Amino acid sequence: MLKANDPHYLISDQYRDAGNLNARIEIHRRFSTNGYGWNRWLFDIIAAAAGPRVLELGCGSASLWIANLARVPASWQITLSDFSPGMVAAAKRGLDGHAGRFRFQVVDAQEIPFDDGSCDTVIANHMLYHVPDPNKALSEIHRVLRPDGRLYTSTVGREHLTELVEWNRRFGLNAISNEDIAERFGLETGAARLAPWFTTVTRHVYEDALIVAEAGPLIAYVLSSMSADQVAAAADQLGAFARFVDDELAAHGSLKITKASGLFEATKESS
Ligand SMILES: C[S@@+](CC[C@H](N)C(=O)[O-])C[C@H]1O[C@@H](n2cnc3c(N)ncnc32)[C@H](O)[C@@H]1O
Repeated sequence: MLKANDPHYLISDQYRDAGNLNARIEIHRRFSTNGYGWNRWLFDIIAAAAGPRVLELGCGSASLWIANLARVPASWQITLSDFSPGMVAAAKRGLDGHAGRFRFQVVDAQEIPFDDGSCDTVIANHMLYHVPDPNKALSEIHRVLRPDGRLYTSTVGREHLTELVEWNRRFGLNAISNEDIAERFGLETGAARLAPWFTTVTRHVYEDALIVAEAGPLIAYVLSSMSADQVAAAADQLGAFARFVDDELAAHGSLKITKASGLFEATKESS
């Protein structure tokens, strides 16, 4: 099983707490060229048509909600869930004084403990590519949605971080690879995955790129994708990569990295 689809690795290492995810969110927050903001863009699309009973799967550190707290309609009843207890705890902590507006639950997207038709809206941001059997998750999402209910699910495309992927390969790091992710549930493959379950599927693409002007966040990003064992075994390769980044920044002032991210909006059939 690929590491990105290995539930044991994901729960006990990669997403044991919010540290790795937040290192990745941080580089996007600081160095993205699109100043509108991913979470604001996402929420614009969701809020335009979403019904009030909302379930988020794989909520991570709740960044969507932290960024949009002032805009969340008072009528929404929101459950934030993740299969990692550490992430559910991080989401609760991150929402701080506002946590009372949300319910929190440990949920595996492949087995959702909700009644049929009990949700108007399901959100699955950057998570379906982690699920060992995405069809099982889609069948569960379809079951818990009411007729005409909507799924909002974001993901990345084949070109996402392509320069970083290439540098990782060049330095033998094996840390970042988007190919498997994009094939399993990506911008190019997601519509076909969703089509058997939903009557309409719309793809929204977010135009953006990274212009990174500091070495630290880039190295932290790479480290966030490696297990402790991998980091220990790749000390020389990491050193060579760090020297490469320093040299590039000294020569050019910044490093440009391609981004390819977007959202699928999918509607369940009417009853
Ligand atoms: C890349 S993070 C995205 C977090 C958050 N949605 C965001 O966009 O910031 C993926 C999240 O999905 C969770 N996850 C992975 N597989 C899952 C599964 N089968 N069921 C529920 N959550 C899962 C992970 O624990 C992690 O928090």
